[in-house]
Amino acid sequence: MLNRIVDDELVHLLDAKGRRHQVLLQPGSYFSFSHGRVAHDDIIGLEEGATVSSSLGERLLVLRPTLGEYIAKMRKGSQVLYAKDIAAILILADIFPGARVLEAGTGSGALTIALLRAVCSSGEVISYERRSEFQEIAARNIETFFGKMRSAGSSSSGKLILKAGDVYEGIEERELDRVILDLSEPWRALHSVEQALRPGGILLCYTPTVLQIYKLSRRMELRYEQSFRVMGIYEVGIREWEIKGRSMRPQHRGIVHTGFIFVARRLYH
Ligand SMILES: C[S@@+](CC[C@H](N)C(=O)[O-])C[C@H]1O[C@@H](n2cnc3c(N)ncnc32)[C@H](O)[C@@H]1O
Repeated sequence: MLNRIVDDELVHLLDAKGRRHQVLLQPGSYFSFSHGRVAHDDIIGLEEGATVSSSLGERLLVLRPTLGEYIAKMRKGSQVLYAKDIAAILILADIFPGARVLEAGTGSGALTIALLRAVCSSGEVISYERRSEFQEIAARNIETFFGKMRSAGSSSSGKLILKAGDVYEGIEERELDRVILDLSEPWRALHSVEQALRPGGILLCYTPTVLQIYKLSRRMELRYEQSFRVMGIYEVGIREWEIKGRSMRPQHRGIVHTGFIFVARRLYH
């Protein structure tokens, strides 16, 4: 079935060096880069995976971005989570269609988008952020993903509630299925999470340093032994390979460490 590129759609153009250019297609507009320019009208109507020529004869591959590729390119206010950690978070927190998930902080909205897609139209994501400038960036990133992309599951989103609030001061929601904390002092939210998460629910915390994980574990052990059981602490690694002709080997450089993932279950007592 033909699934042609349409106007007002966000696409990626890959040049001969593998560089990625993100373009929102508007009739009458042009995309310019170091090897010429391309009329958006020459892209609108193409099949995904087709190529288009620039005015200087360079071929560009036209693709709809995946969620991970979109996140890598989207506007950032805060530090964001990238595909390798998001992938692990979705499975370790067991995000399922129909789930009610609370997240803090929203940051730039990278995880929010992945959660909204995973809970599907029957689910709900409530996202707390205490800095309004980040919340605005996140709102735009989320709107672009679900409004301007015709693939990557962007047509099926859960209900989103963006909240201006500090989870250290309290969480209004109750009977949540999942709570995901990507902030610097998650132990300060334990009291609120204890009240908000349903028995059997999952708390997942993401932190960059092992000292934060230690503090979180200790606080849980000393003050919340009756309410939470630690299920595991994880670190995710991924190694990209370089493939150039006969040279096939791991990349010399790469991201070695991002953060730790801490998972606990809410107990019934
Ligand atoms: C590392 S960023 C989150 C990035 C986000 N997961 C993403 O993928 O784009 C941490 C965010 O948490 C927010 N934050 C920190 N403490 C908070 C709190 N107590 N309540 C709500 N938001 C908080 C910060 O303002 C920041 O935007």
